[in-house]
Amino acid sequence: MTRYVLTLEDSAAFEPWREMARAALQRAIPPEAIDWRIRGGETDLFGQITDDGDGLEALTALPVVKTVTLRASCIALLRDLLCHSDPGRFALAYRIAWRVQGNPHLLEVVTDADITRARIMVRQNREDCHKMASFLRFREEPLQQGEEQDGRRRRFLAWFEPQHHILERIAPFFSRRFTDMDWVILTPRGSIRWDGKGLVCSPEPCKRPELDDGFGELWDTYYASTFNPARVRTKAMRREMPGRYWKNLPETRLIPQLVAGAEARVRTMAEQELRPAPAFHERLRAREQLPAELMPDVAENLEDLAARVRTCTACPLHCSATQAVVGEGPADARIMVVGEQPGDQEDLAGRPFVGPAGQLLHEALGEAGVDRGALYLTNAVKHFRFRLQGRRRIHQNPEAGHVAACRPWLEQEIALIRPKLIVSLGATPLRALDGPGMAMSDVRGTSWTVGRGENAVWRLALAHPSWLLRLGEGAQGDSERQRFVEGLARLRDFTDQSGS
Ligand code: URA
Repeated sequence: MTRYVLTLEDSAAFEPWREMARAALQRAIPPEAIDWRIRGGETDLFGQITDDGDGLEALTALPVVKTVTLRASCIALLRDLLCHSDPGRFALAYRIAWRVQGNPHLLEVVTDADITRARIMVRQNREDCHKMASFLRFREEPLQQGEEQDGRRRRFLAWFEPQHHILERIAPFFSRRFTDMDWVILTPRGSIRWDGKGLVCSPEPCKRPELDDGFGELWDTYYASTFNPARVRTKAMRREMPGRYWKNLPETRLIPQLVAGAEARVRTMAEQELRPAPAFHERLRAREQLPAELMPDVAENLEDLAARVRTCTACPLHCSATQAVVGEGPADARIMVVGEQPGDQEDLAGRPFVGPAGQLLHEALGEAGVDRGALYLTNAVKHFRFRLQGRRRIHQNPEAGHVAACRPWLEQEIALIRPKLIVSLGATPLRALDGPGMAMSDVRGTSWTVGRGENAVWRLALAHPSWLLRLGEGAQGDSERQRFVEGLARLRDFTDQSGS
């Protein structure tokens, strides 16, 4: 049998191999007839290959005898497999490509030795990517002489020694993660460069650079202070952080002494008195710094109240919201309008009803002939509740606990403004104002009084403008919007001083 020697660069990714493999498959050259070699690899050193070009030339001189197709799943597997550094990878990939011609379901045969080997190699590549994502440490490149910091993106440099040819695989991860800085990652298997616009991968091997940005001490302090002596598991640490990565990880110098001192530190910690956790959240810190006169439970005016609401940590919503959105409007407003909670735009602007629902409310008030400036607008819950979907913040209804935590603020707003009419928009403020017993479907569009004599306050329950937005245009949307405007028109009775 004629044998063909096909030689590839060690860094060769999928494409160069694919060209050669396609030529061989089209000429029905069986796997046993090909020696896949790596340029500069062991066999070369012993001088057995003299002319790299020979094998491919001889092979392509033969006539094409068949057409070759590979399924997308097979191409994906081979592409992943060829990132491995095993010198046998090209031969294994060709054997699979050859065998799959006769058995299209080969990839599903879990007991097949070639497929098992390929899958193990793919998994090893993934592990290598994972280790690179976890153990790579960037150092900042200092400014060059004469260079200005202003307007220049920060530049970082890292050195890593991957086991396999994974740079092209992992590059998008780093550009997504560190998109706002320029960086270069150097490795013995090539480099990746990112300048905020594009990624450049090069297979050219690099030398380890001098990496010292003066932050080593800071990093050591950070690592040592976050090292938990009570959770030292040396076996698991070794498994997760194999020795070959240690030499490039600055913190590994500290690990032996941290591990050695762990038991003693745990004993000291156990003997220490309990201390409150440091107030790391800006709103907790702000509350600690609130002037003593603002500390009493009941605010004296709307400004005091706003200062307190802004430092509220009574429920977890304050952690994810940008800020508390306090009420807005004249301190002597005769009408108070209570919405559900700030939306995305209100959360960013720090003002109620400035987003799409606020716009609808604004237009409807105009149609009803009511001056928005005369109203005090607020919400039952002062922080925005949302869930993340990608980068979008999707509104979520507040729960009873959030409403209850915010109720004291709403009660104080009512006590300070003493409105004649309180309009609730939607079910959440209805529950906050009147308790859980009242159903929106029973009271929508109706009004009633609460309290007696000069303490009597009118209540009016209307739909929430977001609900109207969701209904959109069409028969139901139009008639509900009309109903909303008619409801708002009743506010006119209260805006002039003679109103009830
Ligand atoms: N929806 C509300 O309930 N309140 C706002 O402030 C904005 C939208």
